[in-house]
Order: sequence, then structure tokens, then C-alpha cells
Amino acid sequence: MNLFVTGGAGFIGSTFCDSALSRGHAVTCFDDFSTGKELFLAEAGRSDRFRLVRADIRDLPQIHGAMEAARPDWVAHFAANADVRRGTERTRRDLEINTIGTWTVLEAMRLAGASRLLFTSTGSVYGEPAVFPTPEDAPFPEQTSLYGASKLAGEGLVSAYSHGFGMTGVVFRLVSVLGPRYTHGHVFDFVRGLRRDPTRLDVLGDGNQTKSYLHVQDLIAGFWTAIERARPGPSVYNIGHDDTLIVRESVRIICAKLGVSPDVVYGGGTRGWVGDSPRIQLDTRKIRALGWAPRHGLPEAVSDTVEYLLANPELFG
Ligand SMILES: NC(=O)c1ccc[n+]([C@@H]2O[C@H](COP(=O)([O-])OP(=O)(O)OC[C@H]3O[C@@H](n4cnc5c(N)ncnc54)[C@H](O)[C@@H]3O)[C@@H](O)[C@H]2O)c1
Repeated sequence: MNLFVTGGAGFIGSTFCDSALSRGHAVTCFDDFSTGKELFLAEAGRSDRFRLVRADIRDLPQIHGAMEAARPDWVAHFAANADVRRGTERTRRDLEINTIGTWTVLEAMRLAGASRLLFTSTGSVYGEPAVFPTPEDAPFPEQTSLYGASKLAGEGLVSAYSHGFGMTGVVFRLVSVLGPRYTHGHVFDFVRGLRRDPTRLDVLGDGNQTKSYLHVQDLIAGFWTAIERARPGPSVYNIGHDDTLIVRESVRIICAKLGVSPDVVYGGGTRGWVGDSPRIQLDTRKIRALGWAPRHGLPEAVSDTVEYLLANPELFG
């Protein structure tokens, strides 16, 4: 297959590019390197089936041209502002990159005659749901972050283009993803903080936030499962581990891995920041019914992430 991967230089996108190349597919990676890294494409760049386009997804002529050239069987749209936390500091960013950017990708697909899309949304769209594990059809009337709101709008566009233009639109709602090439989130922040000062660790919230996570390799396996079984029209899958980990347990695993015993100072309150959901646990029966199951446990996913960060300290800048 020909695959067109937006955000292909990022954590999840580059792992997907490597996986696609190892399966014999051709990949066009479209990325502006705002958070993506050359380092992550080192292996992909050695393949003669890999092509890189350095541009912004919001530039319709550029992305349309690149898609015309690639003639993709599938577009995997990962490019986004993936930083949930700072939405209230820069209120245009999620709207522009995640919502308008997703419209631009869909419009480029329509113009180029590309008809199959994989889109990474988030479990944050559920806001603070009443039902756990949370199924895809749970009511979620309130949005608690600009990031979640922008992704939900993106989902709406994927659904409308799927109905309007006979496209296949596969939406994944992800929990927090861990593993090699992870560059943002609590494990990154804790390891960075403890490298600077191994005697003290500041933790946002009371440390009892209870969340499901997923190893990036399990996520990519889920993408392939859905791609192989996709049907025309829109579809939505939750993806995440059934297990959860409280933040205090993550702290324990990370400290043990680093061999440090800091004073852990909790900021207090049930949320780490405005828009943080104190509990995230998604019902994954729908993707499991297609034959997918995670292979990596959560403590292992945290450990793998810490090991990768320690081996690549340049990621801390
Ligand atoms: N990592 C997670 O835990 C998680 C959880 C839920 C959803 N997601 C979603 O998965 C996708 C990938 O996330 P990630 O963790 O790999 O993030 P990431 O920041 O590592 O990757 C995003 C990539 O998109 C590129 N990009 C950003 N804006 C762009 C633009 N305007 N034009 C072109 N390229 C642009 C960046 O350079 C980067 O390579 C995102 O859509 C994110 O919202 C991630």
C-alpha cells in the first residue's frame, strides 16, 4: 500500500512509519517538525520506499500536491498539537492545528481522490464521564479541555466527510501512550525533573489520578487491526489498556528505575491542571472484538519509557 502519514516525525507517527515500512508498504511522511524529530526518522530514511515532505498541514496547496504525488491508499493523520495541558494559555492553537488542520487534510484527500483515513482522537473527548470503563457511545455533554474540544470537532469533520464523500474514516480515541520516542507527558516531566534534582519531585494534583495507558507498539498493532478490517463510512474505536495506574504508582516505578528516593511534593486537588480528567479508563471491547489485545503491561510500559529517555537524554533539550 501507499501510506500518507501526517505527523510522521512524531512519537506515534514515526513508530507507525517504521512499522509500515517493515510490512513492505511505501510511506510519505508529511510533517513540519514543530515537535517531530529527525532522530525518529533515522531508520525510515534509509528505506527507498520512504519520502519526506516538510510542510504544514494547514497549507492546502502543499498537502494537496503531496497527496496527488503519493496517491495514497490510506492517510494516517497524526499531526496535531498533542499538548493537552497548555490549551488555556494559547487558545487558537488547538483550533487551528487540530480542527482546521484536520479539515485541510480531509479537503486535500477529497481533491486528490484519497478515500481512507485513520485519525487519532483522544479519550479526553469524554471530559469527565459518569461511566467506567467508558464505551464509545457514552454520553459526554461537557468538554473540559480545548484539546478535547478540538479533537471532537475533528471527529465530526471525519464523520461528515465519510458520509458526504463516501470515505472510510476510522477514528481512534487514545488513552496516554507510552514507550520509545515518547516526548511529552507525566513520565517525561518526572524523569526530566529528577535528572535536574533527584532529591525532590513536584507532582501536579494529589497523585491519585487513575489512568489507563498503552504501549505504543500495542497502539500500532491496533491501527493495523482496524485498517485490515475497515469498511466505508465512519467508525470509532477506543483504545487503551484495561488496567489503570495511579500517578503515585508511576512515581514509584520511575524512582525505582532511576535509583532515587526524592521527597515527593503533591500539588493537591484531584486534577493535575484545568482539563485533566481524574480518571480515564476506556471500554475497549469494540477493538478487542476485531482480535486486538495489548501485549505490554502498564508497569512495563512505564519502565520502557524511562529506559528510552535515559538512553536519549538529548530529548530533554
Ligand atoms: N501521545 C499520546 O498519549 C496521545 C494520546 C491521545 C491522542 N494522541 C494523538 O496522537 C497523535 C500523535 O501524537 P504524538 O504523541 O505522536 O505527538 P507528537 O507531538 O510527537 O507528534 C505530532 C507530530 O505532528 C507534527 N505536526 C504538528 N503540527 C503540525 C502541522 N501544523 N503540520 C505538519 N505537522 C505538524 C509534529 O511536528 C509532530 O511530528 C496526535 O494527533 C495526538 O493528538 C496522542
